[in-house]
Amino acid sequence: MPVIVIVGAQFGDEAKGKITDYLAANAEFVVRTGGGPNAGHTIDLPEGKVVLHQLPCGVLRQDVTAVCGPGMVLDPTALDQEIRTLEERRMFKGTLIISERAHAILPTHIAEDAWEEKLRTATHPGAELGTTMRGIGPAYADRYGRWGVRFGELIRPAKLRQRLELLLASKPHLAGILDPNQLQSDLGEVAGRLAPFVQPTEPTLWSALARKETVLLEGAQSALLDIDFGTYPYVTSHHPTSAGALVGSGIPPFEVSEVVGVTKAYATRVGAGPFPTEVGGDLGAYLQREGGERGATTGRVRQVGWLDLVLLRYVTKLNGFTSLALTKVDVLGGLDDVPVAVQYVTPEGQTLTDYPPADADDLAHVTPVYEKLPSWPKFNERLVARLRDEGAAALPPTLKRFVAYIGQETGVPVEWVSYGPRREETVWLGKTHGSPAAGSVTAWAQ
Ligand code: IMP
Repeated sequence: MPVIVIVGAQFGDEAKGKITDYLAANAEFVVRTGGGPNAGHTIDLPEGKVVLHQLPCGVLRQDVTAVCGPGMVLDPTALDQEIRTLEERRMFKGTLIISERAHAILPTHIAEDAWEEKLRTATHPGAELGTTMRGIGPAYADRYGRWGVRFGELIRPAKLRQRLELLLASKPHLAGILDPNQLQSDLGEVAGRLAPFVQPTEPTLWSALARKETVLLEGAQSALLDIDFGTYPYVTSHHPTSAGALVGSGIPPFEVSEVVGVTKAYATRVGAGPFPTEVGGDLGAYLQREGGERGATTGRVRQVGWLDLVLLRYVTKLNGFTSLALTKVDVLGGLDDVPVAVQYVTPEGQTLTDYPPADADDLAHVTPVYEKLPSWPKFNERLVARLRDEGAAALPPTLKRFVAYIGQETGVPVEWVSYGPRREETVWLGKTHGSPAAGSVTAWAQ
């Protein structure tokens, strides 16, 4: 099974990093295909906790090649720092290659990110997007405007000079603020250190696929933050979908064998934008606390809410999920019940089940209809020990029913259940539980 695509099925922060790291045990390559330092993938290892922002999690495993793919926008200074920090902690174990086609986030982009957010609120109070302020949007805008600087140019001083001059010429509003000489000398040292990693990455991946090696395409952000299919304009600037993963890596569609959607058992969102199933008050505060819901990149507290099946059915169709990984089920343990949104009712009285309104304001005005499922007990040491020893059979019966229910409602089996941040806190259910095609579902969940 050569290519497995991992996609966030909600608004980001679904624990994709943990699932990718877990699946990387059987992979030769792990590729980040889009985004950049806006991501924060937290991985809990015996050696300590790591938060990866730009490096694919393959760097944490020996015998794995981690690829920063062509679709990424990378901050060279922050990337250099991330590599050095991992090296100092002796956690940089894999091999790293960086696509010559990936674009560089420059100080201009970070300045513009802040400037654009200010402009939005100055002209239209409340219109800010709540970006991560890492320069992502402006870097992608320059990429598509053909002003951008690619990593293949960053490491060639004469080419860098030309590209920087052209880029700055496109930004008269920054004239006098940013000097190309200064920019070039600031970038020079970092570019020199990164140069050995920069190369064509597509041929390496094509050769790996010819050898039948396994390639994981590690999603960042999520399908609902997709520039076209997400909650525009409250989205990021690339395509964090299965299709985007192919564009961002140079891998053709026929190579893909699995598309794994990662979803929490509830939902979170950080930044601005509609969130129909948001929960506030004491219950919201409880979920934030139990789930440790604070952004790994910006430190912002995430809004929390219930699992939204309308959105999950939508992203399942959009990405062609072949299985789901359900994460953070332990957070809901011990609640009175577990609400799940099964449909929306619009202000006009229309019922929606699998295709949300494209307009963010319309999405903000739907009323979710909930089904309340029986909860499962709070996780304790005994349950965790049983799960470790017995695997899926030890899942509490009501949690099994929840898992089967999600599979039936989306038409896609839940293949993994994650109940904690560590690698080993994951159970594999096989490829059938919850699939409507599998006659054994009901029996398993009884
Ligand atoms: P940007 O990607 O920094 O431009 O931010 C655009 C929107 O996407 C904001 O609402 C961010 O909070 C959100 N966002 C970007 N990256 C992530 C992520 O990794 N997790 C969750 N939200 C994200």
